[in-house]
Amino acid sequence: RDMGTPAIRSDQHVTLSVDGLSVTVPTGTSVLRAAAEAGITIPKLCASDNLEAFGSCRVCVVEIEGMRGTPASCTTPVAEGMVVHTQTDAISRIRRGVVELYMSDYPRDALACNALADSELHAVASAVGLRDVRYTEGRNHQRYPGNAEGLPLDASNPYFTFDPSKCIVCSRCVRACEEVQGTFALTIAGRGWDSHVSAGMASDDFLSSDCVSCGACVQACPTDALLENTVIQTGTPEHVVKTTCAYCGVGCSFDAH
Ligand code: FES
Repeated sequence: RDMGTPAIRSDQHVTLSVDGLSVTVPTGTSVLRAAAEAGITIPKLCASDNLEAFGSCRVCVVEIEGMRGTPASCTTPVAEGMVVHTQTDAISRIRRGVVELYMSDYPRDALACNALADSELHAVASAVGLRDVRYTEGRNHQRYPGNAEGLPLDASNPYFTFDPSKCIVCSRCVRACEEVQGTFALTIAGRGWDSHVSAGMASDDFLSSDCVSCGACVQACPTDALLENTVIQTGTPEHVVKTTCAYCGVGCSFDAH
């Protein structure tokens, strides 16, 4: 189970309350992970327990007594006596609104599309109770007016395909490339409406970039914008066997259909 942020090793511990449950965790642990330790799942998109917390998606916001605003739980460290609320009406509204904006960047039929049913974004949309998307002019529509769903696929890599129309620029792929594999093949290029995942300055495709086809970005992607070609061709596997070796820390996955 993904606990949201990396485990912290510390001899010092703090005790806090999350939705009325008392939990004791090492000093420096994120509120997101402390909640998970207490058995409370806070929806998240940009956080993962093998990546440093980034705090970009704002899906994991919570209320903390005595603290102003709605901090991101993935980047907020625990404190002794902290009282956290993860499921107030206000928090639920904010989360649903944020996820709705992300879904507005998706192909129009995203909420009904079976092909997306397994994506993490789809699960988060369901978890926050999102049933409809009121906005139809998301970032991709701004970048490519009238043709957002026709954005060209990057199918240059023989093992996976990048579909930019499903990308919400959470940067998990970029951080996985850097933090898990140490390759630095990906970046977020552009600003504002034009911000997008880029694999290089020249041809800007994965195959001619510094990508080593390790698959860390594919495993990190919460939206299926990056998807293994075997999954595209034959569907989601029933079982995945993962092995690791001394060459890299990613782990190879073998699908069983
Ligand atoms: Fe915390 Fe994205 S999961 S801001």
